[in-house]
Amino acid sequence: MNSSSSRIVVLGTGGTIAGRASRAGDNLGYTAGEVGVAQLLESLGGFADAVELVAEQVAQVDSKDMGFGLWQQLAARCAHWLAQEDVVGIVITHGTDTLEETAYFLQAVLDPAKPVVLTCAMRPATALVPDGPQNLLDAVAVATTPGARGVVAVCAGKVHSARDVQKVHSYQVDAFASGDAGLVGLVEEGRVRLLRPWPSVVDFYEGNMPPALIQSAQAAIKSVVLGGLPASGWPRVEIVLNYAGASGWLVEALVAQGVQGLVVAGTGNGTVHAALEAALLRAMAQGVRVVRSTRCVFGRVLGWGADAIPDAQGLSPVKARIALLLELLALRA
Ligand code: SIN
Repeated sequence: MNSSSSRIVVLGTGGTIAGRASRAGDNLGYTAGEVGVAQLLESLGGFADAVELVAEQVAQVDSKDMGFGLWQQLAARCAHWLAQEDVVGIVITHGTDTLEETAYFLQAVLDPAKPVVLTCAMRPATALVPDGPQNLLDAVAVATTPGARGVVAVCAGKVHSARDVQKVHSYQVDAFASGDAGLVGLVEEGRVRLLRPWPSVVDFYEGNMPPALIQSAQAAIKSVVLGGLPASGWPRVEIVLNYAGASGWLVEALVAQGVQGLVVAGTGNGTVHAALEAALLRAMAQGVRVVRSTRCVFGRVLGWGADAIPDAQGLSPVKARIALLLELLALRA
């Protein structure tokens, strides 16, 4: 870690890493988002003393309850701190359940030139052997690594890019994977072994857009998101799932409610039941933006050009939803 006057800001948002159980060692019957971020830093026992850590409590939520307002608040606090010259990076403590969505959102909105490192825990702070302190220590190590940039997630010694990270296990401590793309790196006793480049906005759009367009879309998104957009001002984008016996009923109901975008989590290579597909095509004809992703954890939808419903460019359904939300906002700007 750096030993200079540089600072790392640690923003607390809640989650199991801040969870408290009434009985020590209870890894299930706890409440997420109870222990303050300043107290979490105390649990590091001086192991991060080489760098100045600034704690700020942005929220105390179970991340299943994450929403637009808190995303905007978090993005604004990140933007504020990233603009301070002596702040070399940000660590965000977050629940595991929607961590991948917040990570992707922050990467898309901020494209930070400094590291923004989300970390978490699968066991509460009161566990017999909590995983939070080591994850937090690893996150600080990543945030102080020279050359680090972009939004990443750190859990169980692994560094994942915002684009690729996905929670893949419901209770194990090593709960995240980066799919076919693989890890950005590993944290080995406080040092990062980089396996591929740090993420950038080109990662987000996968290089399919010309750089000038990426920059203007990103600038528009940033100004709308940080510009006090009310929660009610966000476009309505929902996810529908394909499964045996799927029908067009849900899509029709959503269109009737004024939905503006739909992500279909298709089966396999983004396949969709004929009845559901017909409803999606009708929705498109009525001006609803529709994107096809896959419910498979690995792989991606391989489009073949003539698809009536465009593919999600390798994004998971929840991230394709965020991309669509932001795209619709950018179009408005
Ligand atoms: C949450 O996502 O806030 C609760 C679950 C967790 O952090 O593991």
